Amino acid sequence: MHLPTITVGAFLALTSLASALYHRPTPPKTHVNYTVVPDIFLQDDPSTVASGFNFTAVNFGLINRAYPTDDDDDDDKTTTHNNNSLSKSTSQWQRLATYINSLNSQCSSNERYTLLFLGRHGEGYHNAAETYLGTPAWNCYWSERDGNGTVTWADAHLTPTGVAQALSVHAFWAHLIHVEHMTPPQTYYVSPLYRCLDTARLTFDGLELPRGSPPFVPTVKELFREGISAHTCDRRSNRTYIHEQFPSYRFEPGFAEQDPYWTALLAETSADQDRRSKTVLDDVFTTDGSEYISVTAHSGEIASLLRVLGHRVFALSTGAAIPVLVKATTLKGHGPATTTQPYTAQKTCAVPPTIRDSTCNDCSCCT
Ligand SMILES: *[C@@H]1O[C@H](CO)[C@@H](O)[C@H](O)[C@H]1NC(C)=O
Ligand SMILES: *[C@@H]1O[C@H](CO)[C@@H](O)[C@H](O)[C@H]1NC(C)=O
Ligand SMILES: *[C@@H]1O[C@H](CO)[C@@H](O)[C@H](O)[C@H]1NC(C)=O
Ligand SMILES: *[C@@H]1O[C@H](CO)[C@@H](O)[C@H](O)[C@H]1NC(C)=O
Ligand SMILES: *[C@@H]1O[C@H](CO)[C@@H](O)[C@H](O)[C@H]1NC(C)=O
Repeated sequence: MHLPTITVGAFLALTSLASALYHRPTPPKTHVNYTVVPDIFLQDDPSTVASGFNFTAVNFGLINRAYPTDDDDDDDKTTTHNNNSLSKSTSQWQRLATYINSLNSQCSSNERYTLLFLGRHGEGYHNAAETYLGTPAWNCYWSERDGNGTVTWADAHLTPTGVAQALSVHAFWAHLIHVEHMTPPQTYYVSPLYRCLDTARLTFDGLELPRGSPPFVPTVKELFREGISAHTCDRRSNRTYIHEQFPSYRFEPGFAEQDPYWTALLAETSADQDRRSKTVLDDVFTTDGSEYISVTAHSGEIASLLRVLGHRVFALSTGAAIPVLVKATTLKGHGPATTTQPYTAQKTCAVPPTIRDSTCNDCSCCT
C-alpha cells in the first residue's frame, strides 16, 4: 500500500490537532497529610506503657470520656434514673461513632476522619524459631533458609499458639460488636504473607455483623507486607497459591503472580519501607471512603504505618491490634521530597553464631 507523503509541518499540525482532541488535563498534584486525633485511645497517650498492654482487657484502649456530640439527654437519663454507668443507653463506642460521623460531616472537603484498626498476625513459625534459636543465630544463619528440616518458616504459617491468639481476637470482636455496639470495619485489607491472610480469616470470618455491614471480603495489598529482608519469612507465595488457600479474598489491581520484591540476601531500608507505607495509605485513602478500616499486617509494617501517621511508637505483641483515629488532609502540590534508596546487602554467618542475646543484629559475631 502506498503511504501518502506528509511534510514535517503537516505532521506537527496533525499531532497538535490530535493532542488538542485527546489531551486530558493532568490532575493537579496533591499529597495527603496524616495526623492522629489525640485523647481517643490510651495507646496514643505517651504515659501508656506498650509492653504488656492488653488491648482486650481495656476495651481496645478506648478512653471513657465525653465528646462534644454526646446527647445530653442520655446523661440526664443515666444520672436521674440509673446510677450504673454501664447501663447508659448509648455505649462509649456508639458515642465515638456519633463523634466521628459529625467530624466527617463538618470538616472541609479536603479533610476526612477514619478509624484504622491495625492488627498484627498471631505467632508464626518464624517467631517461634527466633525464640527457640536466639536472635543472632536466627538473623545471621537460619532466617535465610526455608526451615530446619522439622518446621518451615518461609512464608511462615501460624503456630497453634498463633491460631489461638487470632481466635481470641475473634471472640473480642464479637464482644465489641454485640456488647459494646461498636461499628465493625467497613473494609478489610491484608498483607499478602500467609500468616496475615490466615490471621484475618480467623479473626473476622464468621462474625455475626450488624445488619447493613459489608461482609468480610478482604483485599490483598502488596505494600502492607512486612519490611523486606533476606529472611525467607518475608518472601510471599505466588498469587495462584494465595487464591487457592483464600478463595474469597480479592487482590488489588495489578497484584503480580510472583513476588516482585523479595531478593535473596538484600534488605529494604526503613526509609523505603516508610515511603511505601505512605504510598499504600495514600492509595487506600484516595480510593476507599470508609470510616472504619481494618489492616492485618506485621510488627515492622505497623510500626512503619504508625510513623507515617504521626503516631507515637507502640510495639504490638503477636496477635495484638491497635486502633488509630486518623485525620487525613489532602493538600495541593507534592509532598516533601523523598528519594528511593537501593536495598542493602545483609551480612550472614557461614555457621550459626553461638551467642544468644540480641547484641549481634549486624552479624558481627560470626565465628
Ligand atoms: C502535616 O501537617 C502537620 C500540621 O500542619 C504538620 O505539622 C506536619 O509536618 C505535616 N506532615 C507532613 C508529613 O507534611
Ligand atoms: C487479656 O485480658 C483478657 C480479658 O481480661 C484475658 O482473658 C486475657 O487472658 C489477657 N491476656 C493476657 C496475655 O494477659
Ligand atoms: C451513685 O454513684 C455514686 C458514685 O459512684 C455513689 O457515690 C452513690 O452512692 C450512688 N448512689 C446510689 C443511689 O447508688
Ligand atoms: C527446628 O526448630 C524447631 C523450633 O522452631 C524445633 O522445635 C525443632 O526441634 C528444630 N528441628 C531441628 C532438626 O533442629
Ligand atoms: C505456586 O506456589 C505453589 C506452592 O508453593 C507451587 O506448588 C506452584 O508450583 C507455584 N506456581 C507457580 C506458577 O509458580
